[in-house]
Amino acid sequence: MQLLTLKNNKVRYDMGINKTGHLIHLYYGDPIEELPEEYIESHMDEINPDSQLHEMSAFGLGDYRSPSYQIRLDNGTVVTDFIYKSHRYIEEKPGLEGLPSLYLNDNSEGKTLEVELEDSYSGVIMKLSYTLFTNIPVIARHVKVVNKGSMKVHCEKLLSGIVDLPRADYDVIQLSGGWSREKKPYRRPIMPGKIHLDSKRGLSSHAQTPMLTLVEKHTTETNGRAYGFNLVYSGNFVTEVEVDAFDRTRIMMGINDFHFNWNLEPGSSLTSPEWVMVYSNEGIGQMSRTFHDLYRKNLLRGKFKEELRPILVNNWEATYFNFNHDKIMAIAREAKDMGIEMMVLDDGWFGHRDSDNSSLGDWFVDKRKLPDGITKLADDIHGLGLKFGLWFEPEMISRDSELYKKHPEWAIHVPHREPGDHPFQRWQMVLDMTNTEVRDYLVRVVGDMLIEGKVDYVKWDMNRSQSDIGSQTLAPEAQGEFFHRYILGLYDLLERITSQHPDVLFESCASGGGRFDPGMLYYMPQTWTSDDTDAIERLTIQEGTSMAYPAISMGAHVSCSPNHQVGRVTSLEVRGHVAMAGNYGYEVDLTKFTPEEKALAIKQVSFYKSVRELVQKGDQYRLLSYTAGGCGAWMYVSKDGSKALVTHVRSLAKPYAPYGRLLLGGLESDAMYEITLMENQEPGQSFKAFGEFLMVLGLEVTNKFGDFLSQQWTITKL
Ligand code: DGJ
Repeated sequence: MQLLTLKNNKVRYDMGINKTGHLIHLYYGDPIEELPEEYIESHMDEINPDSQLHEMSAFGLGDYRSPSYQIRLDNGTVVTDFIYKSHRYIEEKPGLEGLPSLYLNDNSEGKTLEVELEDSYSGVIMKLSYTLFTNIPVIARHVKVVNKGSMKVHCEKLLSGIVDLPRADYDVIQLSGGWSREKKPYRRPIMPGKIHLDSKRGLSSHAQTPMLTLVEKHTTETNGRAYGFNLVYSGNFVTEVEVDAFDRTRIMMGINDFHFNWNLEPGSSLTSPEWVMVYSNEGIGQMSRTFHDLYRKNLLRGKFKEELRPILVNNWEATYFNFNHDKIMAIAREAKDMGIEMMVLDDGWFGHRDSDNSSLGDWFVDKRKLPDGITKLADDIHGLGLKFGLWFEPEMISRDSELYKKHPEWAIHVPHREPGDHPFQRWQMVLDMTNTEVRDYLVRVVGDMLIEGKVDYVKWDMNRSQSDIGSQTLAPEAQGEFFHRYILGLYDLLERITSQHPDVLFESCASGGGRFDPGMLYYMPQTWTSDDTDAIERLTIQEGTSMAYPAISMGAHVSCSPNHQVGRVTSLEVRGHVAMAGNYGYEVDLTKFTPEEKALAIKQVSFYKSVRELVQKGDQYRLLSYTAGGCGAWMYVSKDGSKALVTHVRSLAKPYAPYGRLLLGGLESDAMYEITLMENQEPGQSFKAFGEFLMVLGLEVTNKFGDFLSQQWTITKL
């Protein structure tokens, strides 16, 4: 009997090799000193595979829960039995070939356990890899299958891992929704049977996200145990929580096995995406802060990993497709006046695109709108002292485009079938990223335009789920590889474009948050959180997004009122306060601001600059859940503890309103602070209090008349 243990001062994870050579899961949780012999033995000697805790699980060997992999041999059988061969600990974290993953800045940040198993009949090897990060409760893991045998095998399922827990008294929190309603947190008890969440859309999706949190019944934002699971992947995923007949809980996550069939010729291999597991015994908030620090430090890359993000104005909701050089310059001049730092030109500058039914793929300038070209516009914008950003949707092709005339075969469609009208969601088709010719074309044309347009920032959009699945470049027996190969192709394209243009800040977008996942963040360090820019709707969306993703990765903009998605009327103040929870910007025609609105916007911009570092690099505390209670509140505390920013938003007013107090977090109990209420974005009344008071009795929140009111306080340690 041999024990394989990963342990630091925050978390412990154990597995063991039993008498038959199978890898048994033993423990995941608090960093307890020792597992009692009796506990280890009873789990290792367990003879019923159906109640055993497995580290990976096979179908056909007596475990009737969902398996973590499935391999079909060329003789048609599907039973494989992987037995322990060897293991080693290494003082590094190797990257995953062709896939994004967490990285170590230096090898002292983590160590990796690699375990090798073999199915002796087929000769297939399974390599399980676990990196434990130093001093933080994080384990990142993945699986690699290598066909070392002499027959071809077919991998029909390969999840990134399973966690079998010996209890079932948990709740699960999923982040679900739809377009413009992304990542609403839903908490529900688990019960015998399965919770199954997935995407079959070719992108991680608006509807479900590859993020799941398992919590004990009593766990809250500030107390109790929480297990966070997040997949570094941007395509079809699946996650399941299964409670079996013995009240064991199995959590699993990985590439969706629906329409997945990977051919493994002798000598070839397949690597699963990375699965990030974050543990907290100090509540859900602490789990999120661990994710935030981890992603800022070990996922985001390049020049913009550390750099504070520019305040931008984007013309989409201001003009949609109806703009020209002069209109963009008029907005840019207002932006400059207000202290904004970047002008972003959104959809509609290329081909002959006056609506969403044409020109995707034709990445050359529309001279009707920009007669002097993109370079002139960039020069004029740069001349104002602003940066210049440009929108692209590189993965798409319109039927009405020059590109489609030349290369209809580059669009994804079912081989041997004429594309009918139904593939044209939003009048567009998806380019086949499995085709290297397509990727080479995009690297060239998008790259040329970045240079010609002297572009400082790219908004990389993607507005369509995939349908009519099929690829001209894949053999009939490889069509089941399509979805994963699309994502591998996309990652290759992103790696090439972003590394060839290291000074460009890239923001990903998929009709808002349809592909807001760690896979995309590895290449593009920020994402447009949602197409819903309404301040009140955003309370839920940003709360859910913050479960795993830090503010520096979330685009959040002030738009106009009444809002374009829901028609709600809110004050500029509340819109500003909510947008200051991310990378701040405006998505509105600034030339139409009244003098009062402009005056307030100037103060908002200058205030955001003063708290930008705090928001983008500080520790976030969710104080009140809008989703749960109708008021949202959150707080950022600087890493050195010297400053904090608190925001509270009340949605609907109540008559004879009860007094509310907002308890703060993250302060030092015995430190004295000065608390200043911001009024009209300028310092108003202030008072002094100990951190202890602020955390047990807190701040009095507004009792005023009217809906959608917000308040903001700055806090300084004295
Ligand atoms: C969807 C994006 O999320 C919007 O912000 C905008 O860029 C449009 N696409 C443009 O088509």
